[in-house]
Amino acid sequence: MGYSVVKRSIIKGRRDKIWNWRCRWSIVTIAAIALIFYNAVANIWLLHPTACPVISTASPSDPPSCEPCIDTVPNSAIDDDPIAKLDLRLGRWDGSRSYRLFDYAAVGELYSEVSSNSKVCLATQSSIERLHELLRIAAHWTGPISVAVFVAGDELRLLRAFTTWLFRCQPEIYSRVALHIATPAERPGVHGVVPSWARDCRSKPLPPGERRADTVAWRARHPYPQNHMRNQARKNCHTSYVFLVDVDIVPSKGMAASLDKFLTTAPKCSLCAYVVPTYELDKRVATFPSSKSELLRLSRNKLAIPFHRKVFIYNQYASNFSRWEASGGNETSETHISHNVTNFELLYEPFYVAPDTVPAHDERFLGYGFTRNTQVYEMFLIGYQFRVLSPIFTIHWGLQARRNRPLWREKQNEKNRKHFETFKRELFARYRRDPLHLLKRPQQKKT
Ligand SMILES: *[C@@H]1O[C@H](CO)[C@@H](O)[C@H](O)[C@H]1NC(C)=O
Ligand SMILES: *[C@@H]1O[C@H](CO)[C@@H](O)[C@H](O)[C@H]1NC(C)=O
Ligand SMILES: *[C@@H]1O[C@H](CO)[C@@H](O)[C@H](O)[C@H]1NC(C)=O
Repeated sequence: MGYSVVKRSIIKGRRDKIWNWRCRWSIVTIAAIALIFYNAVANIWLLHPTACPVISTASPSDPPSCEPCIDTVPNSAIDDDPIAKLDLRLGRWDGSRSYRLFDYAAVGELYSEVSSNSKVCLATQSSIERLHELLRIAAHWTGPISVAVFVAGDELRLLRAFTTWLFRCQPEIYSRVALHIATPAERPGVHGVVPSWARDCRSKPLPPGERRADTVAWRARHPYPQNHMRNQARKNCHTSYVFLVDVDIVPSKGMAASLDKFLTTAPKCSLCAYVVPTYELDKRVATFPSSKSELLRLSRNKLAIPFHRKVFIYNQYASNFSRWEASGGNETSETHISHNVTNFELLYEPFYVAPDTVPAHDERFLGYGFTRNTQVYEMFLIGYQFRVLSPIFTIHWGLQARRNRPLWREKQNEKNRKHFETFKRELFARYRRDPLHLLKRPQQKKT
């Protein structure tokens, strides 16, 4: 669906809604005014058949058409703060009864339509302080987007503000987004007052420093339930395929349309996962690489490197970037399979496109460490093949260095590492396979 077509149909949809609402009331009001006026005129006419100094501000001659009402409709008639109506006592509980989950807290008017016309839905999750990064994804991804947002305490009012801002200022994006919420039982979201930037399209949404200090402190002491959020975002996608990414991973331009085309013609493969390579880009690079050739040029100049190569090399190593780069970018612009992953290894965690029948993300892993690679490993045990796509790619803005990792993150990682021992025993029992000999292997120390 073209951008302008989408925009036009949103505007039309909203106009129809407002029109219906206004129209109903206008007709009633006009009829009432007309009746009163008629009565008054009739009385005066009957009592004083000569002079007729009627002073009336109401105009009985208003045409019964409702078209002109649109420009004068008060803002409150448009529902630009859908989350305000959320009953915070009604979310469904997660397995540990620690979080309440609200699906479709806000949903764009074209989300279901765009979903039925697309092959791939982009699923992502975010905390409130990184949610602005969604705009970078949405600027490139033209298909449906399912996003789960974590809010604690007064962060909810900021999410409401962001939703209102998106509705008013980026209607094309809002129209194809479904937004879900997860909130902790221990510190549930509270409605509060929506800041004024919500209705000001000249402001940037979600300026830092708006959260209460006690909320910030609470958040710092508690892990972010990323796998809950991933599952919530995934399970609310309605396309045949899901592309799950972290909110700071930006797809290359035109990816949604290109994937649609590829998946329409790709041979059926129920156990295939299509890997989209991810690069880290130096922040000094001003513009998003417009093509694979440009990305490879940046890579040759060390301004782009495979994601996590420095921080955690296993993350993408099995994708085999040297094979991906071998073409030098001299290849078709249509999405195609570059090569298969042949050396799967533990802790591999690519971003991939697959039907959402892949295993869920284990929600016992909280915070950082082992959250995605355990899910990918389970896919490998089931027998999924990973096929690397080209020339599409994704970008993480900013090169990562190990020293940037805070201590709390290492602590969460340690906790999850212990849980990983349980997890791999469970997998072995379930699938009766241990192709990487994990049960005999000493713990992987480096993450
Ligand atoms: C990458 O591909 C090359 C062949 O093109 C192969 O020699 C190498 O082993 C592969 N590496 C990985 C990690 O798969
Ligand atoms: C690109 O590939 C085509 C076909 O494989 C080849 O004919 C052409 O010379 C290549 N161009 C460059 C710049 O390598
Ligand atoms: C990937 O593997 C499949 C099945 O094992 C094979 O049919 C296909 O040709 C391979 N693709 C590439 C690009 O090597």
